[in-house]
Amino acid sequence: MNFHVMTLFPDMIDNAMGESITGRAIKAGYISVNAVDIRDFAKNKHSRADDYPYGGGAGMVMQAEPVYLCYRYICENIEKKRSVKNNSADTSQENIIHKTPGIRVIYLTPQGKTFSQELAAEYAKEDDIIFLCGHYEGIDERVTEEIVTDYISIGDYVLTGGELPALVMMDAISRLVPGVLNNCISAQTESFSGNLLEYPQYTRPAVWRGKEVPPVLLSGNHKKLAEWYRKQSVIKTALLRPDLLEGAELTQAERELAYEITREMD
Ligand code: ADE
Repeated sequence: MNFHVMTLFPDMIDNAMGESITGRAIKAGYISVNAVDIRDFAKNKHSRADDYPYGGGAGMVMQAEPVYLCYRYICENIEKKRSVKNNSADTSQENIIHKTPGIRVIYLTPQGKTFSQELAAEYAKEDDIIFLCGHYEGIDERVTEEIVTDYISIGDYVLTGGELPALVMMDAISRLVPGVLNNCISAQTESFSGNLLEYPQYTRPAVWRGKEVPPVLLSGNHKKLAEWYRKQSVIKTALLRPDLLEGAELTQAERELAYEITREMD
């Protein structure tokens, strides 16, 4: 998986992705991160990539041309890498907009579709993804109309820019890329798979400040353990995220248990 990020703050992307599990995945070659500074494509003395909005109003708007040139630069590198012979890549004709088909360009915006585990799994199948991080009051609509394929939000709140949402998405996608988590079972059994939250976890000591771990975990009985995990997932989902239960496949007994829990909470 190759992530390409169009941003005004490339260090923010490189620093965060260079840490922890994603950092290890980069070193091991499972993922790559290419943060490209949009300012490098602003053809003015001060490398300004923003300007006042037409029609007036507060704030600044990111200009179309630096964003477009940054996008073309990234696409050309991807095409080169894929050794695709693309005759239309001649950018000398100034008025023509060249798009690279098949590459998803995600614009991070609170106006987009809400990101989810399901979308993360869909994106994890791509070879290359381009993220476009906005700042200020937004980006000139003419360029987003041309290059953006997916408008994505990470929740109903407004952040100062698209970098943190891009990092959130790259983190969630990376851990689904084969090889990134060496424990592949954990990616399958974790929260949200089958619309159930993950069961609670415990580690040593067996008694912590007077609180014991559930005895079944020490029993070594795999059948009982599997039943306990499943029941705990149902209980946890009913307690914390009852909205997920509708989409979960439950037995009659599990449905009754979930119903009892949610009824008690009302
Ligand atoms: N940019 C600013 N706020 C955002 C959000 N909530 N999601 C995605 N991009 C954003």
